[in-house]
Amino acid sequence: MRKTIIVSNRLPVKISETDGEFILHTSEGGLATGLGAVYREGNNIWVGWPGQEIIDLKDQEKVTKELRKTNLMPVFLTQEEINNFYEGFSNETLWPVFHYMAVYAHYEQVNWDAYYQVNQKFRDIILKVAEPGDIIWIHDYQLLLLPGMIRAALPEISIGFFQHIPFPSYELFRLIPWRAEILEGMLGADLMGFHTFDDTRHFLNAASRILPVNTSANVVSFNDRAIVVETFPMGIDYDKFVALGSDPMVLQQIKNLKENFQEDRLILSIDRLDYSKGILQRLQAFELLLQLHPEYIGKVVLYMIVVPSRDTVPQYKELRDEIDKQVGNINARFRTLAWHPIQYFYRSFPVETLSALYNFADICLVTPMRDGMNLVSKEYVASRNNNDGVLILSEMAGASKELIDAIIVNPNNIGAITRAIVDALDMPLAEQQRRMKQMRQLVSKFNIHHWVKLFMTRLQEVNEMQQNMLAR
Ligand code: G6P
Repeated sequence: MRKTIIVSNRLPVKISETDGEFILHTSEGGLATGLGAVYREGNNIWVGWPGQEIIDLKDQEKVTKELRKTNLMPVFLTQEEINNFYEGFSNETLWPVFHYMAVYAHYEQVNWDAYYQVNQKFRDIILKVAEPGDIIWIHDYQLLLLPGMIRAALPEISIGFFQHIPFPSYELFRLIPWRAEILEGMLGADLMGFHTFDDTRHFLNAASRILPVNTSANVVSFNDRAIVVETFPMGIDYDKFVALGSDPMVLQQIKNLKENFQEDRLILSIDRLDYSKGILQRLQAFELLLQLHPEYIGKVVLYMIVVPSRDTVPQYKELRDEIDKQVGNINARFRTLAWHPIQYFYRSFPVETLSALYNFADICLVTPMRDGMNLVSKEYVASRNNNDGVLILSEMAGASKELIDAIIVNPNNIGAITRAIVDALDMPLAEQQRRMKQMRQLVSKFNIHHWVKLFMTRLQEVNEMQQNMLAR
């Protein structure tokens, strides 16, 4: 029977080891939820890294056996591969360049070699299970070479590729020494998807300027094949966030927040630790708010959650120290005996706590310097069952193309963020509701299930189109 193979760098579970025992933690992430219905069915499979170095072959076998029970197939990475492929090429070359922060990028041959080899490692594992007629859906920037590698081995197989981070303008992309190899790898797919029209356009432009290919509208002709490149803005599990709003555990936490903060207005900020998220600029804007509007002192709180991420990469470590310093300075400068301007947490929280915060916060402040989509903004909208609350959203987040009823800001314009906070604090309820209702309609309709279905249906259509072309 024809099966679907999902591939991403990380599996939708994470393994941790205590006293020689391996424990599986299921991911709550949007992609895991959306693709859950796909990979668990029949003999479908999800291939990826379990997020932990496992050296002993016996342990690897044990973990593999356990994962196979739930249709998961692990790709084990050595510490060296984690250093050079994951931290190195993926997160110190591709991530900064694709997020327009090229000054942070390193271009090291050893990291490129590891990137190539780990993509091959994924290919070899996939080739053990893939059969002609299967569908392979590959995700994200860690695996850009994989579509081409699989295509070379299985020319007829159906391959979809989706990139979850931005695709930069040609002028940025061309900085990467291995730019042609990367594009050739991506063009192994039949259908390629990006979050925004701009990302799609940037990819098409880069392909036509770097490779000897023909592009016509959104179709690239390469190696006698037609590759379709399209925009698929990713959604979230809307119903889950709506339902969490009446979960007893969430209601209890909302009650606690009310008791804690009483009349205080709450501004919520939630990100993974990342320089692309604009956390320092957001802190500056909040500081400016307290400086220019002392009437808010004692009345407004910034509730800031930073989820630990990639903290073995030097820039992330530095950013963490810088956040600690700035939060300390602002709190020391403005705090009163009874009130702290910033409640800062460097850890992750269960989804129930996030839901309570989304429900309780008057404002959600999402100001990345660059973001493929940004799902926090959509989760906030989905959680506002009363249709109130204000979303302030960076124009550099993919989500800003859809959530046009947010207050949209340029994240480099600190004064504009401060003004947006004032506008949000002053916004009449009717206006909040008008905007929130519009955004909720959109997030509800274009949810994660819709996104998965749309991509898979389109992949099938593209394959049919290719077959018709061959038959002619
Ligand atoms: C972004 C990327 C994902 C990645 C996630 C977490 O959302 O698009 O591919 O998995 O960040 O980053 P990590 O490095 O922990 O996998």
